[in-house]
Amino acid sequence: MSDQALWNEVDALFDRMLIKSDGALDNALRESKAAGLPNIQVAPNQGKLLYLLARAIRARSVLEIGTLGGYSAIWMGRAVAPDGRVITLEVSPEHATVARDNLARAELSNVVDVRVVPALEALPEIERAGASFDLVFIDADKENTADYFEWAVRLTHPGALIIVDNVVRHGTILDAESEDASVQGMRRFNEALAQERRVSATVIQTVGVKGYDGFALALVLEAPRG
Ligand code: SAH
Ligand code: DHB
Ligand code: MG
Repeated sequence: MSDQALWNEVDALFDRMLIKSDGALDNALRESKAAGLPNIQVAPNQGKLLYLLARAIRARSVLEIGTLGGYSAIWMGRAVAPDGRVITLEVSPEHATVARDNLARAELSNVVDVRVVPALEALPEIERAGASFDLVFIDADKENTADYFEWAVRLTHPGALIIVDNVVRHGTILDAESEDASVQGMRRFNEALAQERRVSATVIQTVGVKGYDGFALALVLEAPRG
């Protein structure tokens, strides 16, 4: 069996055991596929990790950068519902339409606010509105990830979590000479993460249905580390 086939089977095993089959989430995947969206949403076990982390810190305000069909937004919306709020930023009107339908089917229209805008345009406005988030999930265009991370630090408070998807990308991250703008973007983010004294962070490599990748988890500190 190939490594990938093995990872798929192990993911399927634990998904069966630990993640209840769910009408709204299944619907979101089906409708996203039917609408021709790319199949790049977080895996079910990653969605549940976002949900568990949000629950663990009793998050009430979440910012997501990169909505796609709303799959990860459903997981995080459920974690903060009914009183919490998720703002999710999406540049594609087509993706946002699918996401809003999927969130409506999940009865989360009043919890998750899908904003159709390039994230870098929306973030200054969100700051001016005085928002402060308990959790930020960064999962959009990889080129701008370092900038999104800088905004995430500004828009959070001590004790908040910042989670960044796709930091390993099949190990391509090692290639300093890469001509892939996503790889260079994530390399720039890794550097920013290492330098950022207002957070304490780790990166975890992952395998599974999405291949070989990883995520960064950063905790916003009370006081900058020395
Ligand atoms: N978080 C989603 C997957 C997001 S895929 C999930 O797990 O379900 C990345 C998304 O980021 C795509 O929908 C893409 O259109 C969006 N995106 C790309 N560039 C963007 C930008 N500059 N601002 C906001 N969204 C962007
Ligand atoms: C891609 C983007 C993602 O956010 C992801 O989790 C996997 C793949 C991509 O653009 O290929
Ligand atoms: Mg991703």
